[in-house]
Amino acid sequence: MNRRYRKTIIAGNWKMNKTLSETRAFADELKPLLGKPKWCEVVLCVPYVNIPAAVRLFKENRVAIGAENCHFESHGAYTGEVSVEMLKELGVKYVIIGHSERRQYYNETDFTVNKKVHAALEGGLYPIVCVGESLEQRELGVTMDLISYQVKAALAGVPADKMRHVVIAYEPLWAIGTGKTATAEQAGEVCEAIRAVIRKLYGARVARSVTIQYGGSMNAKNAAELLAQPDVDGGLIGGAALKAPDFVEIVNAANQE
Ligand code: PGA
Repeated sequence: MNRRYRKTIIAGNWKMNKTLSETRAFADELKPLLGKPKWCEVVLCVPYVNIPAAVRLFKENRVAIGAENCHFESHGAYTGEVSVEMLKELGVKYVIIGHSERRQYYNETDFTVNKKVHAALEGGLYPIVCVGESLEQRELGVTMDLISYQVKAALAGVPADKMRHVVIAYEPLWAIGTGKTATAEQAGEVCEAIRAVIRKLYGARVARSVTIQYGGSMNAKNAAELLAQPDVDGGLIGGAALKAPDFVEIVNAANQE
């Protein structure tokens, strides 16, 4: 973390978990434990149908609400899809774009990721752009090339003045939902490399202002060590964000003056 230059952001990604009643129960449990974190931004990315309730339930704790996906078009004949404008009107602030599960199961490509980043920024949402290598790619030694390509493709055509709204999440595929976390050094090294890519594209001032998260089996035990890396500015948390006490412990690790 380096709070002098950029925000620390802890974001939960609920994926396809929690009904409306479970969302309410989570809020009841979370609220007294969480309080109002001052030194980091707390985000919960929840299923579309729970967004209106989540916006209302978590407001007093200053938890921002995020969506887990969006469409790149503003409206039209796209059955089952949700636009940025629809999300914005509900009070959504963030949107996860290009999560590996969407790349793997729903044909998300670097091209659609780029279009969604533009749509989010134009519509006033903060995109959390996910990048990450598979185990095979890491073993081939192409991690940095791949991540650099993914970051460049996602940001193609994004002007420098919009970059303060962009969050990048480094999520190695082999660490997502596997209980296998990247070491703090591995996470720090790739996040540093991502910042170097942004520096080349936009210069040093923009690069040091961008929040770069780590994601992949981050939990209450390993959060502090990961966040101690200078280029790891937060986390995108799946499993551990489903349990209020675990999520709060991660927030506490980030909520340091
Ligand atoms: P995990 O998920 O924390 O359960 O590994 C992270 C993510 O997919 O964003």
